[in-house]
Amino acid sequence: MSSDSLLWKPWDEVNFADPYPMYKKLQQNDPVHLSQTKEWIITRYEDVKLILKDNRYQAGNRLEWIKRGVEYLNTHEMDFQAIAQAMSHFILFLNPPQHTRVRKFIQSVWVNHDIENLIRTGANELIAKLDKEKFNVVKDFGQALPALTMTNILGINSADHRYLKDLALNLIKALDLYITVKDLVLIHRASKEFIEYFRITLREKKMHEEGLLFKIFAANEKSQEPLSEEELISICIFLFTAGEETTSGLIGVGVYHLTKSSFPHAPQAWELAIDELLRFNPPVQLLGRIASEDLSVRGKIISKGSTVTLCLGGANRDPEIFDNPDELILNRTQNRHLAFGSGIHFCLGDWLGKLQSRIALEELLLNFSRFASSYY
Ligand code: HEM
Repeated sequence: MSSDSLLWKPWDEVNFADPYPMYKKLQQNDPVHLSQTKEWIITRYEDVKLILKDNRYQAGNRLEWIKRGVEYLNTHEMDFQAIAQAMSHFILFLNPPQHTRVRKFIQSVWVNHDIENLIRTGANELIAKLDKEKFNVVKDFGQALPALTMTNILGINSADHRYLKDLALNLIKALDLYITVKDLVLIHRASKEFIEYFRITLREKKMHEEGLLFKIFAANEKSQEPLSEEELISICIFLFTAGEETTSGLIGVGVYHLTKSSFPHAPQAWELAIDELLRFNPPVQLLGRIASEDLSVRGKIISKGSTVTLCLGGANRDPEIFDNPDELILNRTQNRHLAFGSGIHFCLGDWLGKLQSRIALEELLLNFSRFASSYY
């Protein structure tokens, strides 16, 4: 088959910049598509949702893939063990019953969602330090804010937020669809430094008592079945990393689109607008699962052990679910998008990602009304 006739070409520059025409072609021609890479590519909303809710499709294929890569490189005298160590306990890669245990633990400890002031203060601190004439809204603000917020939530030194943000941005490359050995080196370095940072923080109790990390630590001390130090470190690394590129992506998409439209002002209007941005351009485009037994979708057999790639960006623009799916309609209602996934791995920080993006956009607008009206 010539490369031009391939339906699945996410590495292609044009598709990378705008994958939506590719998703549409797949939806129309082969919504359950066995690609040349032997993964099943799923683009219809109902199929993506059913698979996310069906635990026979298991999480963790990315971890398996990384572990295999790490093993291979170890035999070539390159040591990438820290990657496996950092990620083996990522909640995202766990399946029941371990997943249920870790998720319940996090939910039982992380109960305070009332942090609007904390985020707003952080946003204003960052804005005060910007070069007002010229700055990169994603790098200088969008990426810094989630990191600053997370250090404040965890109750660790907020001055570390830039260092931890850089680690998170390198580590998260591990979730990219295709990575190079050069990426692996960066991921490995970030894993080692992250492990070391949280190991010292936990052992030396370098955290405020009112922060989430202290609560995690204290609850674990009291637990009948305590998590290991390695598991705790992995939870911290994942909490830090999960909200980084995702939230900054949403802030970036928000700035891009909202500077071209009229802005929402009422709280209800903001809520609808943020959900529509998430539907229209979800920060997480693809999720992966592995079939734990032979399974059927639209009459096709997905055999045991096959990798299934779910296109959230495609599902969110499925014309069977959304009217005018390729149009950004900021006051769209009944927006059942899949930007935060579905089923047992549904995002634990959806509320935080949305709240931070809204505050970030509100504060940017307040401080840069000139930017809003004259940039485009
Ligand atoms: C706009 C921002 C965000 C987006 C679009 C997003 C998206 C997602 C998606 C799609 C998943 C499901 C992954 C899967 O099923 O394999 C997920 C899981 C998760 N997210 Fe988020 N996320 C965002 C922000 C955050 C934030 C701020 C946090 C908190 C620090 C967070 C924590 C998590 C956790 C812990 C999970 C794993 C849940 C589990 O496996 O049970 N996310 N996120």
